Amino acid sequence: MNMSIRLETPDDFRETEILTRDAFWDVYKPGCDEHLIIHKMRHIPAFVNELDFVAVYDNRIIGNIVFTRAKIVHESNAEYEVLCMGPISVSPLDQRRGVGSKLITHSFGCAARMGFRAIIIFGNPNYYHRFGFVTAQGYNIKTSEGENFDAFMALELYENSLKGIEGRFYADPVFRVNNEELEAFENEFPYKEKHVTATQLK
Ligand SMILES: CC(C)(COP(=O)(O)OP(=O)(O)OC[C@H]1O[C@@H](n2cnc3c(N)ncnc32)[C@H](O)[C@@H]1OP(=O)(O)O)[C@@H](O)C(=O)NCCC(=O)NCCS
Repeated sequence: MNMSIRLETPDDFRETEILTRDAFWDVYKPGCDEHLIIHKMRHIPAFVNELDFVAVYDNRIIGNIVFTRAKIVHESNAEYEVLCMGPISVSPLDQRRGVGSKLITHSFGCAARMGFRAIIIFGNPNYYHRFGFVTAQGYNIKTSEGENFDAFMALELYENSLKGIEGRFYADPVFRVNNEELEAFENEFPYKEKHVTATQLK
């Protein structure tokens, strides 16, 4: 597939939000909130503009990946900066053609060159293990609630970058959205019906 990857620009914002809404719609819950999350994310200090990439094919944005600065807090209160990846979206008609993989490998190379230590994600292990993610438990990193589960994963961007760095992971609060703001934002998009689907039950 002859697509290119470039940084997102403000002119792309709405097109990317539509793509994100289409990609996540009904996948993890009826409807989705990831398009609102990226809308808010671009204006917070934790957002990494240099890692906000779009995949373009035929002058259409078919994929997007974004990162925010997050932290691991040791019980001694020492803080270590890491990256939180996501949302990542590929337009439904272009999925399973390698676009997501290319966005991931491209942005990881850039993140490493920028000197970031590691990437933390909540995602499907079946997809992310292929990029080298392992369960965060392997590094003694827990969620902010002190939990571990297979979907909570970490990736070192250079060898031993997480060695000795253990504690609780805190993502930026931008990931928390409330129903009122989501409903108001939804009004800016064409109506889409919400459904309960099998993927939400996994
Ligand atoms: C997840 C996503 C970004 C992957 O992008 P993509 O371009 O379809 O992925 P690629 O073509 O690079 O990789 C395809 C492989 O990933 C697997 N895959 C794709 N999405 C997956 C998912 N959600 N869970 C598990 N595996 C997935 C496919 O089965 C395929 O595996 P195979 O090569 O063994 O057949 C895309 O499917 C998407 O936008 N999904 C909806 C939004 C979403 O779930 N985002 C991620 C949140 S963690």
